[in-house]
Amino acid sequence: MKIMAGNSNLPLARAIAGYLELPLTEASVRRFADEEVFVEIHENVRGEDVFVVQSTSFPTNDNLMELLICIDALRRASAARITAVVPYFGYARQDRKPGPRTPISAKLVANLMTTAGADRVLAVDLHAGQIQGFFDIPTDNLFAAPVMAADILARNGDAGLMVVSPDVGGVVRARALAKRLNNAPLSIVDKRRDKPGQSEVMNIIGDVKGRTCILIDDIIDSGGTLCNAAQALLDAGAESVTAYISHGVLSGAAVSRVNNSALKELVITDTILPTEATQASDKIRILTIAPLIGEAMRRIADESSVSSLFD
Ligand code: R5P
Repeated sequence: MKIMAGNSNLPLARAIAGYLELPLTEASVRRFADEEVFVEIHENVRGEDVFVVQSTSFPTNDNLMELLICIDALRRASAARITAVVPYFGYARQDRKPGPRTPISAKLVANLMTTAGADRVLAVDLHAGQIQGFFDIPTDNLFAAPVMAADILARNGDAGLMVVSPDVGGVVRARALAKRLNNAPLSIVDKRRDKPGQSEVMNIIGDVKGRTCILIDDIIDSGGTLCNAAQALLDAGAESVTAYISHGVLSGAAVSRVNNSALKELVITDTILPTEATQASDKIRILTIAPLIGEAMRRIADESSVSSLFD
């Protein structure tokens, strides 16, 4: 078993390698003067079971290209099996046609990885579970929920908890977390715009009065969804609102939006390398999922069960 890393999230790749007590494969993943990606593997990988760790986060296209070229280099170096470990799968939100003459970019990205030579994919909290079906190779989708649940219970216990989905689409994810929190009750923020041009109204389904609310989502990007939901919950009488999000995309002014929001705390995982602004924020805390990914990789290499990690 060998682990190779692209440049998108080296601290996470090193932490995974540390968990597995393996060195990272000697390789250079660099740029020519015109920004073309160039990959050179400096050790023999012939016949090896190789895992390439690379999140396709910002800059998404560059990081995706690095991943594809790493896979190509490994294939041409006769690796026996190549697993693309993609803790954050960029383009996942483009998983269907939202209107006529639009692409399904998540499917295109899946095709690119397969064509490059990936034999398996390992991802974390895919935006939609169905994306696994975009690949015709084995795809494991890990859940950050056990790591989040352990943190929530350690900090709050389970008294007075209420798990909240910030939109109707996230109910399955919220229900799964609630189950891990000793069957905490569930609430949903229902966003509605009665007529085009009217501002969005937030209705809270469920009684959140006096509750310690835990908002759960897969992605925080601009922060709009989460910060608005937090305010709506407090307006409805919640005691406090903390958010647990798998992927801290945090584009543009998102960190300052979070800093100025009604959220008590935003907890993200390290699937995406945090920016300096994210690290400097007093409101944002980062949980590592390196042991979870490392353990899944070990089980894939050993051909033992990955799903039992979540029993
Ligand atoms: C949407 O379906 C996702 O689950 C997130 O709710 C969304 O990407 C968050 O985006 P933003 O932070 O820009 O509101």
